[in-house]
Amino acid sequence: MKQIPFHEPYITDEEIVEVVDSLRSGWLTMGPKTVRFEEEFARYIGSKYSVTSNSCTASLHLALKAIDLKPGDEVIIPAMTFTATGEVICYFNAKPVIVDVDRDTHNIDTSKIEQAITSKTRAIIPVHFAGQPCDMDEILGIADKYGLFAIEDAAHSLPAWYKGRKVGTIGDMTCFSFYATKTLATGEGGMITTENDEWAERIKVLRLHGISKDAWKRYSNEGSWFYEVIEAGYKYNMTDIQAALGIAQLKKVEWMRERRVYIAERYTEAFRGLDAIAVPSVEPDRVSAWHLYVIKLNVEALQADREAFIEGLKAKGIGASVHFIPLHIHPFYRDTFGYKPGDFPESEWIYERSVSLPIYPGMTDNDIGRVIEAVFDLVKGLRDETAA
Ligand SMILES: Cc1ncc(COP(=O)(O)O)c(C=O)c1O
Repeated sequence: MKQIPFHEPYITDEEIVEVVDSLRSGWLTMGPKTVRFEEEFARYIGSKYSVTSNSCTASLHLALKAIDLKPGDEVIIPAMTFTATGEVICYFNAKPVIVDVDRDTHNIDTSKIEQAITSKTRAIIPVHFAGQPCDMDEILGIADKYGLFAIEDAAHSLPAWYKGRKVGTIGDMTCFSFYATKTLATGEGGMITTENDEWAERIKVLRLHGISKDAWKRYSNEGSWFYEVIEAGYKYNMTDIQAALGIAQLKKVEWMRERRVYIAERYTEAFRGLDAIAVPSVEPDRVSAWHLYVIKLNVEALQADREAFIEGLKAKGIGASVHFIPLHIHPFYRDTFGYKPGDFPESEWIYERSVSLPIYPGMTDNDIGRVIEAVFDLVKGLRDETAA
């Protein structure tokens, strides 16, 4: 039986040719391809600046450096996210202030943000869960009212649109991920988009040891050996091999999204009538990148837990995952900040029921059909067991 993994990157000859070209050129790390990827990404998004880094985590860290986050400051984040969103705040000895999410979209519940704001709050990091943009008008309104920065965690949302605006052009800074499982994959990689000259310049310097601008050129004919260190920076730059992948992937980023939309529609059509499963939905005024397709099991009706369901899929050769374990449940966030289970009930409710199904451009109709059939079989099997 052919395995259907939870994820597979979509790599074709175009990526291979572009990477081989980098290898043959002799320029392996940050150089001409990285610059080209930044330019093409900025053009695609419609942002003034696009700055590469080695991950979304690094991008979020650099964005918080750019706003000069200080020890003791607070940053608002949703409970339903990956630890990267919270850990970068801790790098500054600042506090991640967790807010619960909406039961339908899994995005930060904007009606709960204001009560989490204190005199120490500096920023909000909304996470566009699974690719669906957050309520950005409400978030930007609150940010404006309290003088906060809005730094978007867009790890899932390339490409996505909110009321006709592309994610990457909305908040103060937007951080993307090109990790292996993401909608544009370079293995590891990240990008920050912004309209702000000062932040873009500072981030460019900070991502490469804090050495003066264009230091990467020092080994080229047009460059000079001389450089100056102006800050204690980081080794967060992208390589040209990654950028080569990015250039090739960017050309088909919309086609890859259309493939994911097709898969999402097939799943939704099939599962809509099942009362044992809630399907994900997208608000009418936004367009999702569909990075994830997360169903929620009606665990009460099935009288079975999520784990039995995932194990059942595995036995049928189908990979699945869970996004996410809410942050406040992890030992680090409990022990360091005193969060505890029960603090964010909507996130916990979602967590207990969520299963992420395979959704990626290379899935065939047969693969999609097998996932649908497996879900139907499992629902029926668990029902029969319950009835017996
Ligand atoms: C919501 C979210 N933010 C940030 C990240 C971190 O991305 P990266 O692996 O590129 O650092 C992830 C990765 O899975 C994520 O899901």
